[in-house]
Amino acid sequence: MLTTRPRGTNDILPGEVEKWQYVEQLAREVCREYGYGELRTPIFEHTELFSRGVGETTDIVEKEMYTFTDRGERSITLRPEGTAAAVRAYLDNKLQALPQPVKLYYMGPMFRYDRPQAGRYRQFHQFGVEVFGSHSPSIDAEVIAMAMDIYRRIGLRDLELHINSVGCPKCRPGLRQRLQEHFKPHLAKLCPNCQGRFERNPLRILDCKNESCQELGRHAPTTLDVLCEECETHFNQVKGYLDTVGVPYIVNNRLVRGLDYYTHTAFEIMAQDIGAQSSIGGGGRYNGLMEACGGPATPGIGFALGLERILLTAERQGITFPVSRGPAVFVATVGSELEKQAFALLQSLRQQGIAAEKDYLARSLKAQMKYAGKLGARWVVILGEEELARGVAMVRDMQAGEQQEVGLAELVNYIRNTTNNNQCRGL
Ligand code: HAM
Repeated sequence: MLTTRPRGTNDILPGEVEKWQYVEQLAREVCREYGYGELRTPIFEHTELFSRGVGETTDIVEKEMYTFTDRGERSITLRPEGTAAAVRAYLDNKLQALPQPVKLYYMGPMFRYDRPQAGRYRQFHQFGVEVFGSHSPSIDAEVIAMAMDIYRRIGLRDLELHINSVGCPKCRPGLRQRLQEHFKPHLAKLCPNCQGRFERNPLRILDCKNESCQELGRHAPTTLDVLCEECETHFNQVKGYLDTVGVPYIVNNRLVRGLDYYTHTAFEIMAQDIGAQSSIGGGGRYNGLMEACGGPATPGIGFALGLERILLTAERQGITFPVSRGPAVFVATVGSELEKQAFALLQSLRQQGIAAEKDYLARSLKAQMKYAGKLGARWVVILGEEELARGVAMVRDMQAGEQQEVGLAELVNYIRNTTNNNQCRGL
């Protein structure tokens, strides 16, 4: 137990973490270009935020939340997603006072007690954006195009963007009624969960993973059959904007997202190469969520991308990421008496922006050279008594396998002139 991580969680180690940093950095750059500012919210929130925000009849709230009572007898939940918390933060911090729309992004761990499998974890990471305060269909198109832009810059191929309109409070009652008419004769064949959903939220039945429910839902009416004029116009405009910027999409009238807050546009991006958990991102509009959380009516839209699934897709597609190299310089010593001088040189190199390393296990010179090779050091600076007395050191080029004496006063310039900037920094 003590040496095993909890089921559905991962350690991300050096060697792997550079890929994460690369994708995170790229996402941050895209956010800067699109005008999104970073929001950091707590890892835990009051349970009610999610039960009300995400929806009582969703899988997330019904069975996947990590909920506990804290020492002050409050019900607390580890965040299963980022949207409800962003809405809470918008209200809490009175961001209505800012010029609208307010464009935010976040990334970090989310928690869902789901059955772990490839691409599905109990602690996973999302990168997400949320825009508050605009009804404009151009914002819907912008967030969709932005998600696709991120995948494109990472180099992912063969993705499918599915879009749908899930209607609004005006058209939903009509859909609800038609869905109930459709499922009523088959009520006994629905899973126990969906029998409950039949009354509470029949749209959820279309999202059930149970085979029998899926089969019964195959010919059910869809949101697109009942859209009101306003929703239909909005959806057509979103598609028009996507066409304008050449973002290909598939209209999927069966797309029901796993969270209840959506209105109007809903979308999901699927990757072909990663098996059953193919959704590498999804989002949509949620014009009623702010009010449901006790705020003034404020439209919102956003998406979240699953970082584990993005990296899994990249791996399956053979995409390579820049990996960090070893230190630019390894400081080796002949004999242990020069430890202090080696330590001083090491610190001085680092303070001048050169990634440097040394031995910490009292290795022999030969073993130090081998260790430097394993670390991937570009240069080894060898300190010896006799050379130090003359103010020089032997500098070995680990790539060429050659060495030469360099004056200690010129060492930094020598390294800088012969090593590119990134390599100096250990990148
Ligand atoms: P979601 O579809 O629940 O939406 O999650 C978004 C993405 O997170 C999924 O497409 C998937 O890539 C990843 N994901 C979800 N669950 C797991 C898991 N157990 N393991 C690994 N990856 C997972 C939301 O969370 C909404 N908050 C998105 C949104 C933002 N809608 C509007 N704004």
